[in-house]
Amino acid sequence: MKTEMLSPQKDKNALNTAASLLKAGKVVGMPTETVYGLAANALDGDAVAKIFRAKGRPQDNPLIVHIADFEQIHSLCPAVPPAAKDLAGAFWPGPLTIIVPKADCIPNEVSAGLSTVGVRLPSHPLARALIRAAGVPLAAPSANTSGRPSTTTAAHVLRDMDGKIAAILDGGPCGVGVESTVVSLAGEKPRLLRPGGVTLEQIETVLGEIEVDRALYEKIGDDTRVSAPGMKYRHYAPKAPVTAVRGDPARTARYIREHAAPGDGVLCFDEFAPLFTGLTEISFGRSDDLATQAREVFDSLRAFDDTEVTAIWAQCPDDAGLGLAVANRIKKAAGFRVVEVSADSFG
Ligand code: TXA
Ligand code: MG
Repeated sequence: MKTEMLSPQKDKNALNTAASLLKAGKVVGMPTETVYGLAANALDGDAVAKIFRAKGRPQDNPLIVHIADFEQIHSLCPAVPPAAKDLAGAFWPGPLTIIVPKADCIPNEVSAGLSTVGVRLPSHPLARALIRAAGVPLAAPSANTSGRPSTTTAAHVLRDMDGKIAAILDGGPCGVGVESTVVSLAGEKPRLLRPGGVTLEQIETVLGEIEVDRALYEKIGDDTRVSAPGMKYRHYAPKAPVTAVRGDPARTARYIREHAAPGDGVLCFDEFAPLFTGLTEISFGRSDDLATQAREVFDSLRAFDDTEVTAIWAQCPDDAGLGLAVANRIKKAAGFRVVEVSADSFG
């Protein structure tokens, strides 16, 4: 299959071409404000099955369904919980996915056998235009090969999906850079399943204190039942093994300087880059600039695959605000191999 790159800037029919492919049951790379998605008609099980094949995604990992207007949620969920309306009012359109009980029209391929569905109303104008033009809600996971870092540019998508999907709609680089926050309203209490572009603190201004899934902080075994099946798989990983280093930024920089071997790579905060001359250093924003870190983290992890590094050390922000999402992606890229650095870490 030839994968067509559709650029609305060069071709005024790009959006309509992408929509026609979706209507014909094909898979299309779709820009969103968080990361690129691999979209297909969410109501067509055969179309959705193609997404799983293109990604190499395990069958038990459900997909998020993307809508263009709040009212569309009623066709996906028979009884929308009041808390979903509150969250949507505060954060939609935007980087938030809400897990709710699902309607019968949603094929098993989307929900992976669960009785729930994740719904998201993205803020990216091209994403919403595409959903409207396709005339159906669009199921879309992140547009990376399963296990690889997510894709935040059309070029990333082409790299992973060339020959595997019909087309990619180029919407430029994603503004947020980490995926949506996933909040489940399917259990007794609201629960954070994945930190993302909307912070936990922001969610709690609307819902009050919520539960936080332990899979955010620790490695989950293959045989464990988890609330978001995606959480148990190796994720976001570049080819070289990653070690996440947490603590005061000046200390983590010093720790890495003292432990890195020649030939290692360092994912570092901008202001510490000069410390790592002689190593392959990729910086992803200042230590106090979480928005830039979020926007750059996947591109930076991917960039190590174009180098010869055999191991990667990563400076990791703390859990406040957007740091929870950035740190979660780095820790998962590291398979939860995390070094906590304190004053005592130095002899
Ligand atoms: O920002 C995003 O959310 C991007 C863009 C394309 O919208 N999408 C995305 O999808 O990140 P994906 O499939 O890569 O991650 C979705 C996560 C997975 O961990 C999955 O297990 C979880 O959400 N999830 C989806 N539906 C669920 C459900 N019904 N119950 C629990 N977890 C669910
Ligand atoms: Mg993903």
